[in-house]
Amino acid sequence: MTLQIKSIDQYHEVYKKSVTDPEGFWAEQAETFTWRKKWDKVLEWEFDSPSVKWFLGGKLNITENCLDRHLETRGDQTAIIWEPNDPSEAVKTYTYKQLHKEVCRFANVLKKNGVQKGDRICFYLPMIPEMAIAVLACARIGAIHSVVFAGFSASALADRINDASCKMVLCSDGNYRGAKTVPVKAVVDEACKSTPSVETVLMYKRTETKVEWVEGRDKVWQDELEGVSDVCEAEEMDSEDTLFILYTSGSTGKPKGVQHSCGGYMVYTTFTFKNVFQYNEGDIYWCTADVGWITGHSYIVYGPLSAGATTIMSEGIPTYPDYGRFWQICDKHKVNIFYTAPTAIRALMAQGLQFVEPYSLSTLKVLGTVGEPINEEAWRWYKKHIGKDKCPIVDTWWQTETGGIMISSLAGVTPEKPTFATLPMPGIQPVLLNAEGTEIEGNDVEGFLCVKFPWPSMIRTTWGDHERCRSVYFNRFKGKYFTGDGCRRDENGMYRIIGRVDDVIIVSGHNLGTAEVENGINSHPNVVESAVVGFPHQIKGNAIYAYVIMDGVVEDEAKTRQEILEVVSKEVGPIAKPEKIQFVPGLPKTRSGKIMRRILRKIAAGEKDNFGDISTLLNPEIVEAVKEGALG
Ligand code: PRX
Repeated sequence: MTLQIKSIDQYHEVYKKSVTDPEGFWAEQAETFTWRKKWDKVLEWEFDSPSVKWFLGGKLNITENCLDRHLETRGDQTAIIWEPNDPSEAVKTYTYKQLHKEVCRFANVLKKNGVQKGDRICFYLPMIPEMAIAVLACARIGAIHSVVFAGFSASALADRINDASCKMVLCSDGNYRGAKTVPVKAVVDEACKSTPSVETVLMYKRTETKVEWVEGRDKVWQDELEGVSDVCEAEEMDSEDTLFILYTSGSTGKPKGVQHSCGGYMVYTTFTFKNVFQYNEGDIYWCTADVGWITGHSYIVYGPLSAGATTIMSEGIPTYPDYGRFWQICDKHKVNIFYTAPTAIRALMAQGLQFVEPYSLSTLKVLGTVGEPINEEAWRWYKKHIGKDKCPIVDTWWQTETGGIMISSLAGVTPEKPTFATLPMPGIQPVLLNAEGTEIEGNDVEGFLCVKFPWPSMIRTTWGDHERCRSVYFNRFKGKYFTGDGCRRDENGMYRIIGRVDDVIIVSGHNLGTAEVENGINSHPNVVESAVVGFPHQIKGNAIYAYVIMDGVVEDEAKTRQEILEVVSKEVGPIAKPEKIQFVPGLPKTRSGKIMRRILRKIAAGEKDNFGDISTLLNPEIVEAVKEGALG
């Protein structure tokens, strides 16, 4: 059984062991899993190349840990509860036995379609149970899943399919989102016009939306399952074989495929799931994320299932049929542990208590947040009105690249502090550095957040481009993993994430690269150049402010803005649409031509002065012009 820390003293004791003897500590944790063959060596690492390997020589299949090992002890326990978009549609549940069978059946469908170990399979699916089933089916046969959030545009999808040369795309006909039915297959069809590697598109019929059909390439998921065996032996995987790729935004427009491997990811996500949320036998756990993001991978699918939990997957949105939907689901399924994003809390808070009051929320024991800093007001509202002042809140800081939760309190076990992620997980050695790379020791300090020792679920490389992994994460500060976040450590050693210090903007908890959004804007035929920055937004945390230089005079600003929104939506996806678009005659630049985002950020935030020394700019006069036209 995975260790579950039960007191603050035990936390300190375990933490100490985990840093004085990391290999011994993680070996003990790994012992609690099912391995086909035990590892020969726990860890080999250096952060220059970088090269990190955990449980070397160990053989396993993660699905044997998420499914097979539970069959005897909890075969009839519910593994997944699926809540549809429409509250009147029937809920679906899968016991561990049923889920095991479904995963095996779909694994056989993949095999029958020529999928082999190491092949990449792209997912572009809504939150239906088949998403989890198919993810596990890939893992069962050793195929590498690359899940793309189904809100991304056709061109963003095509880039991701091509980067990993995916052989197959899994999609649905459409997706129910609130009152709307959104086309899904049509986006895949558009993307697949430029994806030569795709041999098969397997479409799940969800909405019965009319779709185009490419004979020979397209197949219906349900038809493919007909008559297929529900027995499928799991592929033996090396601990360091790739489990999945997940794309995340970076400072260039090109997507970055973060690569995770089997053994370490399994051990770390299970360990953190049980400890952070203090999951106990029989608890009903609900994480509202989409499997398209890392949170869904680690804390809807792999972590909970490996821990033998009952995990809820929900298809819909928090605002449909009304703003009480989350709370209605909590009561309906007697949810004990609820994990969501600050942006959702703020959006629901803004609608008032009449949407909370009809529900008792009496089964809730633990609340969690993830994805962005939570402001104190939202934290207090969540604590009081959802947690009824009796539920601990875990503010979990982590990243796609870290694979699992890195800094967080352990629910009800270690102290919480509003707006603070608090303390590192066992095995995590965070450090704060100054711009020169010197470690800032002691408390009551601020700096760049880095990690100085490997942990089992960390990024191994970026797909097809190891140099990118090195230069983005391991180059800025020698011998350290750089998170890209600024961070404060308070007088008691608790960590508070301040926000990104690079070219990534977190909008509603989603990571967007400035370059990606700018490329989208620039695809408008009359745009000469653009720069985007984040600015504080009450609900979204940050929103995008775009400065755009147009070719010639803009006759109709409203129309041009609308056109820009459309191209961004088409090129990147609706989540990347700027909140504000200001037309400018130029952009403040350094003499070497680098856009001074620092100044643009200040203007977007409504500041009128304190821009520092601008005399060294290439075009200092432009600052005044940009400031004058600033949108309030
Ligand atoms: O800036 C931090 C912010 O989200 C970034 C990682 O984004 P992504 O890879 O999409 O993963 C999100 C889900 C794990 C981080 O670099 N972030 C994440 N969690 C928190 C946070 N910022 C403050 N507090 C958090 N709890």
